[in-house]
Formats: sequence, structure tokens, C-alpha cells
Amino acid sequence: MEIEELYQEVILDHSRRPRNFGELPDAAVRVHGDNPACGDEIHLAVKFDAGGGLEDIKFTGRGCAISQASASLMTMKLKGKSRKEAVEMLHAFHDLVTNDAGDASKPLGDLRVMKGVRNFPQRVKCAMLPWRAVEQAFEQGAGEATVSTEPT
Ligand code: FES
Repeated sequence: MEIEELYQEVILDHSRRPRNFGELPDAAVRVHGDNPACGDEIHLAVKFDAGGGLEDIKFTGRGCAISQASASLMTMKLKGKSRKEAVEMLHAFHDLVTNDAGDASKPLGDLRVMKGVRNFPQRVKCAMLPWRAVEQAFEQGAGEATVSTEPT
């Protein structure tokens, strides 16, 4: 199997059976993220641990395969991570999907399957949607927030 095909399989699997999909009743922050270009949306719920790390993270919403798979992979990767680790991963992931230098020895693991979106600017927004939401969750700290893939 070609590596691209394998990546495709992983993305399809996560979009069909997203992990960490559901409600998080005791979430500290809820972020509604949307992509006005297509109307897709994600509702991200985050619970922090005593040190400000990501104790639990879940999402709901509906969207294209890329945004759903990205959210699923992201929640798997970020759960249990410190704030610092999560922010590092956010930057590494952004690099991965936006520039050629972005895949060298960064702690991305499975997230590398999203690398192909860098060739499709509209899909970069799909892939980044859940990450924008988690970034906002850290900024917000508590309560509710909204974030968009488009600058306001
Ligand atoms: Fe809407 Fe991907 S097409 S988030």
C-alpha cells in the first residue's frame, strides 16, 4: 500500500468513527468553532487538570472528513498533555499543514497523516478548525467562546 493510501485510510477511519466524540458535562471551557466558507462546525469541550493541562477533551459537530478526522486525531493526541506540550503541538501541526519544513522530527506521530492538506489551501482551514478551537480554549480558560477560520 502506498503511504498516501494509508494516510487516506486513517483519515477516513477517523472521520467515520471519530474518537472522543461526545459531550463533556463537566467541561471548563466550550468553544464553538466554525468555518463560514462551508458552514461546518465543531463544538469543543475541555476540562483542565490542576496544572492547567488537558485532563479531558471531547468534541461534537459536523463537518467534512478532514475536519472531523483532524478533531479526532487531535483529541487523542492532546488528552493528558500539559498546556506547554499542547501549544508546541499546535505550532508543529500548523507547520506540518502549511509548509514543507514542517515535518522534521516534531512530536506529531499520527497527526502526520494530515500532511497532504498543505497542497490544498481550503483544506488547511478544515484541518486547523479544531486546533483553532483548542487554542481559543486555552486563551479563554473558562466559560464559552466562539472562533472562526476566517479573520473577523
Ligand atoms: Fe468545511 Fe472542511 S469543508 S471544514
